[in-house]
Amino acid sequence: MKLFVDSGSVKDIEALASLGIVDGVTTNPSLLAKEGGDYRAILKRICEIVQGPVSGEVVATSAAGMIREGRDLAAIDPHIVVKVPFTREGLKACRTLSSEGTRVNVTLIFSAPQAWLAAKVGATYVSPFVGRLDDVGAAGMGLIQEIVDLFDHAGYGTEVLVASVRGPLHVIEAGRMGADVVTCPPAVVEQLFKHPLTDIGLERFLKDWEKAQAVKA
Ligand code: E4P
Repeated sequence: MKLFVDSGSVKDIEALASLGIVDGVTTNPSLLAKEGGDYRAILKRICEIVQGPVSGEVVATSAAGMIREGRDLAAIDPHIVVKVPFTREGLKACRTLSSEGTRVNVTLIFSAPQAWLAAKVGATYVSPFVGRLDDVGAAGMGLIQEIVDLFDHAGYGTEVLVASVRGPLHVIEAGRMGADVVTCPPAVVEQLFKHPLTDIGLERFLKDWEKAQAVKA
């Protein structure tokens, strides 16, 4: 399973990419608005750092507007994947952009039928939002299982990109279910590193080593 970082922060992406664990990045208008500055320059810089798929999202609501913005985003860098919302207009835009060779990530997916329709119009990725489903008392990961199973038979090559991830359990479950990609905010990636026994173990190794050196001296 590939790991994408869900962030518009060049600093955070740079730090994680230097560890060699980042396969791509997803952004959305909320994440880029938080950064301020020129979003095109930010996306370009992220593409240089990661050298993998980087999703940039359109904000137009008509198919024509999305196609225009999508072409503009795609021109920033060959690594750009155009993100469109799951609407009727979004599907039209996805079909056109995909037929032009631009990779499209259909976002705001909350059901298996939506994922299937997006796959039918050539989406490279579908982004089901697990955390937001959990937030309203639905089973976010249940949807991932449904889409992975469906795509095994009728996925048209579209990848399942698990989004709106809130913690390590979402990540591991996604992998066990056979999702293609999980996109995590930097704070969740940070949680993936943590285990108190690792910290305690390392501290003990270093102390024992220091003690032995002091005895020798
Ligand atoms: C996905 O591509 C979205 O950017 C993101 O995962 C949304 O997550 P949120 O529900 O934490 O805002």
